[in-house]
Amino acid sequence: MIKTNPQYPVSLIIIGAGSRGTTYASYALQNPGLATVVAVAEPRQVQQQRFANQHRLKPDAIYSDWKEIAAKDRFADAVIIATQDSLHTDPAMAFMDKGYDVLLEKPMAPTAEECRCIVESALKNKVIFAVCHVLRYTDYTQRLKSLLSEGVIGRVINIQHLEPVGYWHQAHSFVRGNWRKKADSTFMLLAKSCHDLDWIRYIMDSECTRVSSFGGLAHFRAQERPAEAAERCLDCALESSCPYSAKKIYLGRVSNGETGWPVDVITDDVTGKGVMQALQQGPYGRCVYACDNDVVDHQVVNLEFANSCTASFTMTAFTEATHRRTRLFGTHGEIEGNGAEIDIFDFRRDEHSVIDVSTSNATILGGHGGGDARLVESFIRAAGERNSDLVLSGPEETLETHMMVFAAEQSRIENRVVGIEELTGFCGHFEKNS
Ligand SMILES: NC(=O)c1ccc[n+]([C@@H]2O[C@H](COP(=O)([O-])OP(=O)(O)OC[C@H]3O[C@@H](n4cnc5c(N)ncnc54)[C@H](O)[C@@H]3O)[C@@H](O)[C@H]2O)c1
Repeated sequence: MIKTNPQYPVSLIIIGAGSRGTTYASYALQNPGLATVVAVAEPRQVQQQRFANQHRLKPDAIYSDWKEIAAKDRFADAVIIATQDSLHTDPAMAFMDKGYDVLLEKPMAPTAEECRCIVESALKNKVIFAVCHVLRYTDYTQRLKSLLSEGVIGRVINIQHLEPVGYWHQAHSFVRGNWRKKADSTFMLLAKSCHDLDWIRYIMDSECTRVSSFGGLAHFRAQERPAEAAERCLDCALESSCPYSAKKIYLGRVSNGETGWPVDVITDDVTGKGVMQALQQGPYGRCVYACDNDVVDHQVVNLEFANSCTASFTMTAFTEATHRRTRLFGTHGEIEGNGAEIDIFDFRRDEHSVIDVSTSNATILGGHGGGDARLVESFIRAAGERNSDLVLSGPEETLETHMMVFAAEQSRIENRVVGIEELTGFCGHFEKNS
């Protein structure tokens, strides 16, 4: 893409003023010289008004549906699409066809076909396009990449990567919450771990060729339900001894004054009374063994790369921690990383060294180890300077890593090794419109 004079502030439209959309938009409040929010589409009144007040939007800049904005002539530089997983493809393609630069939440879309269409649309329209693979943008990842390129452990031969979802996070999002059912959102590996397969490929710096995968729903199902358990935690005699008690997860937080995520997901009224009502009536008060969930609670993936090196990935619900951990095995050393520290063992010198990369970014955009802030910053700079190289999660490589995820899920379901080339192809949409 040709670089011309920087154009700041980049004007932004936010599609979906929920949790992620609000977070990304806060970049504009913190950096008004670089970005400004000029419109929002959000159907929920409370979220819509809260967002409009934060960004001082006039009534004519507030919409209930992205389609109302897409029907108008282009009036901003870029769009951030932060709607739920199944609502990414149509707005992404509509806005790119209008010439908007697009920052799209992950996963791009629930099917391989839709992902291909989105990427083809980005390439055809020559817009700046980035997917919110925030892990690529953290200080930790960037430090790891530079250490590897300096050869601190020689050539990386194998990567072991763990995504510990966390026992209560699994219950909140993937048993009771928005990502519990494949048909309503998508499968677990795509919803939660597309970040991780993308990250492994980024660190390995080689294309993935083949995958195999196993996994299932082992615990959060009716067969595991104790006989005395009630339908809802508030009525349950076993509640105080259950690790997944909704009372503990939500009311416990409210009584400590913690009313942000995940409490604000279950109700707009984050008082003790409002949360109690949500637990009495809403989906987040249900027994974890009596929900309508079907996504897996554990999964492993083995990956082979074009450089003939390998990686293994584990996603599991059953952990205390929620920080990813990685071991990298190289020809001249070994690295263990946890997002905050990088512990290097050098075979040549027979010694350890530890690098502290914990970030101290305490703002709302400090999420994901500073990755949220760095992602938005990179997208804004890329849009302002018309320089797609500033984006680390652009169309082609993101498509490739999404295909790794679809291939892994296909392997798990079909019980066979799947080659990535099986998932490549064209969606036809590009040809129709070009
Ligand atoms: N990058 C990350 O690390 C990360 C983390 C969490 C979630 N996500 C992804 O971000 C996306 C959003 O997640 P969230 O937790 O913010 O969800 P959310 O439900 O809080 O926000 C989505 C918003 O979209 C709005 N919406 C629905 N229909 C709309 C329409 N027609 N037009 C405009 N807005 C509409 C909803 O009302 C809602 O407020 C999901 O795809 C999710 O998987 C990414």
